[in-house]
Amino acid sequence: MKNTTVLCQLLALLLFVNVVTSREWKNSAALDNNFLVLWTPNEKDIVFEVQVKTQGYVGLGFTSDERHTADMVIGWVDNNGQVHLQDRHVKDSNRDPQMDSSQDYHLLLGYENKTHTVLRFYRQYDTCDPRDLKITNDTLQIVWQYHVEEPVSAAGLLPPHGAVRGSRPLYLVQRDSPPKRQPTIHGIQSSLHTWDVLNQQVKLPMEQDTLLWCRVVQMPNINRKHHVIKYEPIIQPGNQQYLHHMTLYECRGKELDLEEASKMSGSVCYQPDAPSLQCTSIAATWSLGSEGFNYPLEAGYALDPELGPRYYMLETHYTNPLLDNFITDSSGLRLVYTNQLRTHDAGILSVGIDPNWRHIIPPGQREVVSEGHCVTNCTSQTIPDTGVNMFAVIMHTHQLGRKVRLRQIRASEELPPIASDSNYDPNYQEYRRLQKPVKVYPGDHLIAECTYSSETRQTMTLGGLTTREETCLVSVLYYPRIEMSLCYSLPSLPTVLQSLGIQKLKQGAAPVVIEAPAELAGMTLEERLMRYNWDKSFQSFQDATHRGTFKPLCWNRKGDILPNTDVQEAHYPRILRPYKESTRPCAKKTPRNKLSRLFGEDGDLATPNDTDDSDEANAVERGQLVRSKVSRSSEGPVIGINSHTNNNKATIMLIITCFIIVAFR
Ligand SMILES: *[C@@H]1O[C@H](CO)[C@@H](O)[C@H](O)[C@H]1NC(C)=O
Ligand SMILES: *[C@@H]1O[C@H](CO)[C@@H](O)[C@H](O)[C@H]1NC(C)=O
Ligand SMILES: *[C@@H]1O[C@H](CO)[C@@H](O)[C@H](O)[C@H]1NC(C)=O
Ligand SMILES: *[C@@H]1O[C@H](CO)[C@@H](O)[C@H](O)[C@H]1NC(C)=O
Repeated sequence: MKNTTVLCQLLALLLFVNVVTSREWKNSAALDNNFLVLWTPNEKDIVFEVQVKTQGYVGLGFTSDERHTADMVIGWVDNNGQVHLQDRHVKDSNRDPQMDSSQDYHLLLGYENKTHTVLRFYRQYDTCDPRDLKITNDTLQIVWQYHVEEPVSAAGLLPPHGAVRGSRPLYLVQRDSPPKRQPTIHGIQSSLHTWDVLNQQVKLPMEQDTLLWCRVVQMPNINRKHHVIKYEPIIQPGNQQYLHHMTLYECRGKELDLEEASKMSGSVCYQPDAPSLQCTSIAATWSLGSEGFNYPLEAGYALDPELGPRYYMLETHYTNPLLDNFITDSSGLRLVYTNQLRTHDAGILSVGIDPNWRHIIPPGQREVVSEGHCVTNCTSQTIPDTGVNMFAVIMHTHQLGRKVRLRQIRASEELPPIASDSNYDPNYQEYRRLQKPVKVYPGDHLIAECTYSSETRQTMTLGGLTTREETCLVSVLYYPRIEMSLCYSLPSLPTVLQSLGIQKLKQGAAPVVIEAPAELAGMTLEERLMRYNWDKSFQSFQDATHRGTFKPLCWNRKGDILPNTDVQEAHYPRILRPYKESTRPCAKKTPRNKLSRLFGEDGDLATPNDTDDSDEANAVERGQLVRSKVSRSSEGPVIGINSHTNNNKATIMLIITCFIIVAFR
C-alpha cells in the first residue's frame, strides 16, 4: 500500500517534469541563429515557446503592415529565478515596446540554463485588445528582439542599446509541417530516394540586381511510377541572401525542344525568341522563409515515366541589390520520392488570369481588383462526382499584390473562400496547408481574386510573366488527380474596350484605330491606354472589368484546351446567396483605469466608453500575478506553470486516477 503511494508520487513527479519541459510542437522556425520559436495552433488559442541563446530578455511580436506598430511580448528570467512575461506594443519602430494595459499573453513556464532563455506562453487568436494583433490565416510579419542583459527592474525598463532585432513574414496558422504519424510500413526508410534539381554555377550579372534563370531537367531514371512525398531547398552555403524564389514547373512542350534544352545548363528565362516549352504547372516551389513542403500521408506527387511529364524546368529568381561581384550559385530543390505508393496521386490545379496584356492594372490606385475564373463547364467535365480534396494552396502575384482569395461558388451560393490572405506579401510565397481539406465538386465555379496596390506606379501595368508585369494565380494541391491542370480566364476584348470607354474599333486598320465614340476617333488603342484619365474614370473601369465577359481557358495536362469550353465570352456567375464573413463581436472589455492608462500610455487609443474604473489589476500588478504563479524548485531550472494545456490536464487526470486506485485497494 505504502509502496504504491510512493510509486504514484514518483510517477506524478516524473510525469510533471516530463510534461512541463517537453512537448510536441506542430511548427517551428529558426528566426536567426540564436532564436528558435515553436508553436502549436489550438482551437481557440496558440501556444508558443521561444528558446533564445541569451540570458538577457527576449521579445517576440507580430505586425501585419508597415505602419511600424507591433504587438509584442517581452520576457526574462531574473537573478532570483523569477520569470517575467509582459504584453507590450511598439508604436514606433525606433522606440522600445511599451506596456499594454491589458495583459493577454499568459505564461506557462519559463527557465534559463547556462546558455538559453526559454519561455512558453499562450494567447487567444483574437484577444479583443486593440493593442494586440489578431492572429488569422493571413501572412503575419514576425518581429523578434533580444539582448544580453535583462531589464533592471520588474517594471521592465529595457537596456537602452544593443538589442538584436529582426523580422520576417510567416504563416502561423496554415504553415505546413511534417506529418505527425510517420509511415510505419516496414522498410520505408530504405525505399526513399532523392532527386536533386540544382543550378550549375549560375553567374549573377554584375550590372543587374535581378536575374531569372531557367534550367530544364529530365525526370530521374525510373521505370515505374513513384511518389514524391516531400521536397526541401538546397541552398549553397552563403548564398541565401541572393535567392528570392525557386519554382519547379512541369513542361508540356515539344519533346525534342525539351530534350535539347535539358542538355544545357540553363539560360535567362522567357527570352522572346526561345521555343515555347510550355512549362506552366507548378510541381514544387520554394521562397524566402520556406522550408519546403510535406505531402499528407494519403497523397503523393506522381513521377510517372509513362504518363509524364518527363521534363521539368527550375526557375530561380536571384536578387543582388548591392551588385556584389563574382557570385556564382548552384542552389536548387531536393525532391524525396518513394516506390511505396500512397493511396492518391496529388495534382496541381492553377486558377487565375491568363498572363496577357488584357489584364490591365491602372497606375496610382490604392486598390485594383482583378479576377480569374475557373468556369462550371471546366470543372463539370474533369472533376469526378465524388469531388476532389484540396489540401494546400499557394498564391502568386508579382510586386503589386496585396490581397488574394480563392472563392468557391456552387449553384448560385458562394461558400467560404478556400483560402484567403488580406495581408499577402509577394516576397513570401509558399504553400499554406488548409486545416481541413476542402471539397470541390463538378460544376463548382472558382474565382482567383487578386487585389493590387499600384500607388507606386506612374504607368500602367499589364499582365505577363516578367516581374515588372503582373499576374494573379492560385495553385492548389489536391487529390485524386484530374485531367485539368490550368483553369484560367482572360477579360474578353469587348470587356477591355468597354472598360476603356471604347465603343467601336475601325475594321481592318493596322495598327488598331478607334472609330467610336467620336471624341476618341482616330486614336490608336495604345494612345488610348497611355492617355486614359485614371483618376477620373478608375471606378467605371473597375466596374466594367468586374462585370464584363471573359474568355475561359481550361487546359488539360497535355496542354490542349478542353472541349466545350472554347467560347469567346462567358459571364460572371450568378451569386444569389453571397458569402458573409461571420464577425464575432469582442466580448471582453479592455480593463483600463487611470493608473494603467498612464502606465500603458494608452492615451492615443479611442476609448469613448471609458467609464470602467474597476479594480482590475494594472500592468504592474499583473506582472506580479504572473510571477506569483512561478514556483521555485531547489534544483534544476526554475519553472513556472499553469494548468492550461491539455497535456497538463491529462497528467493531472492520470495522477488522480492513480491515487484513486491506491485508495480503493
Ligand atoms: C539550454 O536549453 C536550450 C533550449 O531547450 C537547449 O537547446 C540547450 O542545449 C540547453 N543548454 C544547456 C547547456 O543545457
Ligand atoms: C482559417 O481558415 C479556416 C478555413 O477557412 C477557418 O476555419 C479558420 O477559422 C481560420 N483560422 C483563423 C485563425 O482565422
Ligand atoms: C458549356 O458547355 C455547353 C455544351 O456542353 C455549351 O453549349 C455552353 O456554351 C458552354 N458554356 C460556357 C459558358 O462555356
Ligand atoms: C458605449 O457603449 C454602448 C453599448 O455598449 C453604446 O450604446 C454607446 O453608444 C457607447 N457610448 C459611446 C460614447 O460610444
